[in-house]
Amino acid sequence: MEKHRAGNRRRRLVVVPAPFQGHLTPMLQLASILHSNGFSITIAHTRFNSPDPSNHPHFSFLPFSDGLSHSDSISSHNLTAITDTLSANCASPFRDLLLRLTTQNIACIVHDGLMYFVDSVAQQLNLPTILLRTTCATNVLAYHSLHRLLSEGCLPLQANETCRHADERVVPGLEPLRFKDLPTFISTNSDVLQYQLNKVQHGIKSSLGVIFNTVDCLEGHRVDELRQIYQVPIFPIGAFHGMAPDSSSSFLEQDHSCIAWLHEQAPRSVLYVSLGSIITWEEKELTEMVYGLLSSKQKFLWVVRARAIDVTEWVESLAEDVRKAIGDRGCMVRWAPQKEVLAHEAVGGFWSHCGWNSTLESMYEGKPMICQAHFGDQRVNSRLASHVWKVGVEWSGDVMERGDVEKAVTKLMVDPQGKQMWQRAQQLKRQLRQAVTQGGSSRNTLIHLVDHILSFS
Ligand code: UDX
Repeated sequence: MEKHRAGNRRRRLVVVPAPFQGHLTPMLQLASILHSNGFSITIAHTRFNSPDPSNHPHFSFLPFSDGLSHSDSISSHNLTAITDTLSANCASPFRDLLLRLTTQNIACIVHDGLMYFVDSVAQQLNLPTILLRTTCATNVLAYHSLHRLLSEGCLPLQANETCRHADERVVPGLEPLRFKDLPTFISTNSDVLQYQLNKVQHGIKSSLGVIFNTVDCLEGHRVDELRQIYQVPIFPIGAFHGMAPDSSSSFLEQDHSCIAWLHEQAPRSVLYVSLGSIITWEEKELTEMVYGLLSSKQKFLWVVRARAIDVTEWVESLAEDVRKAIGDRGCMVRWAPQKEVLAHEAVGGFWSHCGWNSTLESMYEGKPMICQAHFGDQRVNSRLASHVWKVGVEWSGDVMERGDVEKAVTKLMVDPQGKQMWQRAQQLKRQLRQAVTQGGSSRNTLIHLVDHILSFS
């Protein structure tokens, strides 16, 4: 496409994804976009959750050791613990990898904001870095609010003498986010929280730029705020998947049988249910979900991810009339080709955990959401989708209860409120698509990004 832009200068980018589905996917998409703009790509990756090179024949792949044992990797969904282990173990192997590549040939390292060790190694070798933050831009501003609340003694967020009803209060400067929407980390320990926040801020300050998979029409003013705070170039060039050639980066095998099932359904008649790559459900919650979905009388395509039980056995344990009702109304898979599902005309809405990739993919296809956030940035995304972009029904219950499921599904798929969200989602879809076409905001920003990287080499 724009290969000439890179000329004869150093054009190799070393790209370092974090080994989680919601991070690897956007990083590989970004790498494809940069490759289309004339850069050679080396993916430097952990052995844990490593990408499949055969899906990306135009990149070279180099693993480095991460010190994670097989049991660490499969038993822990604790992102913080895994990233800390990577920080402790990866600097030296990553440095050796760069030296093998001959550093003079490297234009820049593009790394995930969770791969904290990259910065110090890059500094030692005098290599420039650019950061990819895989969340929305508002989420980084929310870290700043957390920082302030921490210094005011308002964290952890439980109500106390000075901060009674803290959870419901609106965060100054980030309205309509409430305190309870802030992306608290898994730890509620103030020292740990402070340490995490410092790492986020230090990572941005020591980079020569930050890339976001976001779009000006969603968060332009928030991106401007970040530019003012950090005084580094910030590049909102989303939605990545709207510019990157399609290629799989799924750790799990996608079950395409659900697409054939969708072909048989009426337009906008199906609710797609998927709560991302990390969250799993207990048996009791699955049972509440299935009864709620059936009571709503809507069709559903459900990615069922269960904790400690076998889904097939669980389905078999349900009463015969329930199993029959599922057969008439639902399709259940372990992992779906999500972007294809969301693009399908039969899908009328998405019950989502509001991971940033899912949120953006849904809006890109004009599908309104039930927003059921669980942790971290999901709460920020949920609040923005429901109260700023107005394409989502905010889940308000604390526990999974069939009555709440039925109400939320009906609101999204049947009620006039849901129909308004559908209209709003169509407008947003047009804006998001416009941003990635020639002359659109993300395309223009991409040109600046390419020039910025070339200015280092
Ligand atoms: C995690 C955090 O939950 C999220 O808040 C953060 O923004 C990124 O890291 P994850 O749970 O993986 O994300 O959710 P999400 O960001 O939505 O990414 C999931 C990816 O898996 C999406 O690209 C989605 O298309 C894909 N997916 C999901 C499938 O391909 N098939 C499925 O069945 C479900």
